[in-house]
Amino acid sequence: MPVTRPPLRVGVLGAGTVGRAVVDGLTNHPERLVATDGAPLRLAGIAVRDLDRARLAGLPAELLTDAPAHLVADPDVDVIVELMGGDEPARTLIAAALAAGKAVVTANKHVIAHHGPVLEAAARRTGAAFRFEAAVGGGIPVLSPLASDLAGNEIRRVRGIINGTTNYILTAMAQDGRSYEEVLADAQELGYAEADPSGDVEGDDAANKLVILARLAFGRWLDPATIGRRAPTARGMGRPGITGVTDLEMEGAAALGLTIKLLATATRRDDEVEAAVMPTAIPADSPFGWTDGVVNRVEVDADPLGTVRLAGPGAGGPATSSAVLGDLVAVARDRGSTWAGLLPATDPAGPAADPLDGPRHWYAFLPAVRADVPLPGALDHAAAVDFEDGTAIRSEVVSLAEAKAAFTAILPEGADVTLYPVDD
Ligand code: NAP
Ligand code: HSE
Repeated sequence: MPVTRPPLRVGVLGAGTVGRAVVDGLTNHPERLVATDGAPLRLAGIAVRDLDRARLAGLPAELLTDAPAHLVADPDVDVIVELMGGDEPARTLIAAALAAGKAVVTANKHVIAHHGPVLEAAARRTGAAFRFEAAVGGGIPVLSPLASDLAGNEIRRVRGIINGTTNYILTAMAQDGRSYEEVLADAQELGYAEADPSGDVEGDDAANKLVILARLAFGRWLDPATIGRRAPTARGMGRPGITGVTDLEMEGAAALGLTIKLLATATRRDDEVEAAVMPTAIPADSPFGWTDGVVNRVEVDADPLGTVRLAGPGAGGPATSSAVLGDLVAVARDRGSTWAGLLPATDPAGPAADPLDGPRHWYAFLPAVRADVPLPGALDHAAAVDFEDGTAIRSEVVSLAEAKAAFTAILPEGADVTLYPVDD
């Protein structure tokens, strides 16, 4: 006979895109959250900034407060679900809940990536569960599998398309020829983008998620500031994330069978972890190449497993609430923290190494250059397609220094182009 446990009282901080979907799950679908080996979950409070706006939006008035710190300190609240986003006051509220021994569930990858070692130490000190599945890949279960199901492996590399907003924008640019600004506005409307979308398009959000993936895959916290997020150019460095990607570059890539995606990669190399978030030219006919719209995909290379791929809805209220609610049920079942039985990682975050050393193909769109000019040896005539406005070229397999020299040699004086690494 199942043992009846007292309900776990849940305080939700923030009722925006994700918070509202979580409140909906707790109030309208409690039957989905029942585990025979766990406590029932009961919504006990919702902290919002604007009480009137929240009431008008249909949130249960009797549960509302505009004092999140009071909800965290309330002895009648057992679990805190932080969905406000941003750095402060989210960090302080999470830290206070953990210090008080309360379980915390959050989707806040910024706070985890920037304060991971301290928050992990706090959770381990009090034994409070700290769960953050929703912080990476939206609704895709990726962190728990890394920490639990793949625990018998040595992980060599984790990489993925892990920002839904940028993938949504790049897909619409590639397939519909729509402008960057117009598609970004759509992504905001759909609830995919961060409150400040520059974090999405400049690659910061993906870098934060990569820090979290690397923590679980390689047992250490990386400093997000050390993760490169700019592709090189012929003469220097490009703009961060996808902010420099142009319609012409997308069109030229397609003519070469490529598509540009924001790819985050972390690789273990001896004692270092190489990590970068890079706009990358990817064969269109490949799993990352056909990952379109808001879909995220994470690929894990592990020994003895080989490669495993996880894909699904990577942003938006419903998808993200799935991961938050799953974490709540895990708390109710006493499943501990997202890092499960992995060794502690509480040392200060270390630097990521730069991965762009090895030889590879490079793709660039060169305005005002024709493919019939004499091309240096590092550039492959067979992979050049002329357009009215310039030429799309994929280089031979060469080092970055060789690619820079070759592309600079055929560029008009003073002109520059982004060199996208090609992921073959
Ligand atoms: P959002 O729509 O901006 O919602 C955040 C809510 O928190 C807003 O309603 C905001 O109120 C409220 N809030 C902020 N500061 C507050 C404070 N001091 N006191 C009370 N309420 C406060 O953001 P979201 O998209 O739901 O994202 C929430 C978190 O989930 C973020 O960490 C985000 O990175 C993460 N996440 C989001 C997604 C997604 O697809 N949206 C997916 C995965 C993870 P105001 O409206 O008044 O500012
Ligand atoms: N802004 C994020 C994205 C939300 O677009 O991927 C999901 O983490």
